[in-house]
Amino acid sequence: RLSDYGISPQNGFLPAEIPLEVLPDSYYQPWETIVRNFQSLILSKRLRRIVDALPILSTDLLLTEAEWRRAYSVLGFLAHAYVWGGDRPADIVPPSVSIPFLETCRHLELPSVATYAGVCLWNWRPMFTDEPIDTLDNLSTLLTFTGALDESWFYLISVAIEARAGPIVPMMIDAIGAARRGDSNTVINCLRSFAERLDELGSLLERMYESCDPHVFYHRIRPFLAGGKNMADAGLPNGVKFDDGTGNQPYVQFAGGSNAQSSVIQFFDIVLGVEHRPTGEKRSNSSVPEASPVSSPSHNFILEMRKYMPGPHRRFLEHVESVANIRDYVVANRNNRALVTAFDACLAMLRAFRDKHIQMVSRYIIIKSRETRSQSRSLSPKQASAQRVNIANSLQRGDSKKLRGTGGTALIPFLKQARDETGEPAIDAW
Ligand code: ALA
Repeated sequence: RLSDYGISPQNGFLPAEIPLEVLPDSYYQPWETIVRNFQSLILSKRLRRIVDALPILSTDLLLTEAEWRRAYSVLGFLAHAYVWGGDRPADIVPPSVSIPFLETCRHLELPSVATYAGVCLWNWRPMFTDEPIDTLDNLSTLLTFTGALDESWFYLISVAIEARAGPIVPMMIDAIGAARRGDSNTVINCLRSFAERLDELGSLLERMYESCDPHVFYHRIRPFLAGGKNMADAGLPNGVKFDDGTGNQPYVQFAGGSNAQSSVIQFFDIVLGVEHRPTGEKRSNSSVPEASPVSSPSHNFILEMRKYMPGPHRRFLEHVESVANIRDYVVANRNNRALVTAFDACLAMLRAFRDKHIQMVSRYIIIKSRETRSQSRSLSPKQASAQRVNIANSLQRGDSKKLRGTGGTALIPFLKQARDETGEPAIDAW
């Protein structure tokens, strides 16, 4: 059943088979040659010229899902390198990338932008195939923009978290079944294991500091992860046009990469009954929803991010949403202390995980953006690399309350609200 949704009982939303390192058919050699020389092409500013001269390859020779996924990752990296890899951003991606990219996006049900799926879920390999991938000492990345180990580490932290979280998916599906038949011992055991695993995920997250330098992240890596949404200040007022040769394609504005596109994190919320509202909105039972002065998106960003997940994963989450019963079960059995304690422990751990993430965002983004602002005031325009400063400015928009994530949210208000909402379904106060 899980496999119907492209989910592996062991690795969760990571593919059960190891991602392809190259497309097997030599027909796709022109793409693979570019990504083999990717960082050098970006560094020498030759990438756009090479892509402009690239033939338009057909997707007809992509035979397996693994091949479609590899094509999507390669073309997503190519598109972002094309857009962000020059002195100024380019807002038209040429047909050699656009045509096959739009086809792979249709096939995988993804938007034409580098998503978490293309950059993390499908962009790793184990160093040794007989060893597990849920720790960080057996993982390597396939594609990076910079070649920096910091960039690999940034992606691999997410891969290891996905892998370590993988077994939680079948376990909590079992817990839903157990709650349905009133088997509280099984529910308690599942919730206890879930809480322990969440704690381990927090430890994995904190290993980011070991090998991803905030300066490298903020100035070298992050600009490439931006999408076409809210990027006017970075020189993309209209977003990006994927030219299919007809000249009829519209400009599109898709959000850049965001961990909110991780299905497993959304699975945690759904299974525990955590609900997220649009940023700035208070709980519905506590008076009138307040429009935030910072940002009041009409939609719920977390729900919106489901559209940035592969189709089967998105459908899985919708299915789980329709059967999730754990919170109701705990409420109905609230005099079972062990049950309530185990459930509340999961929420506390998930909240602690989000707290660790907020601290990380502070070091990698908030502090770096303040430094950049104070420095850019004292630099001449020539001294400051125009593109990087522009992108940093557009991602930051003034003070730290207005600072935006690559996904386009008002970063800190969004993250703090998501953290606070994580505690709301708690049965006992903790
Ligand atoms: N969403 C992360 C950022 O805003 C990657 O930098």
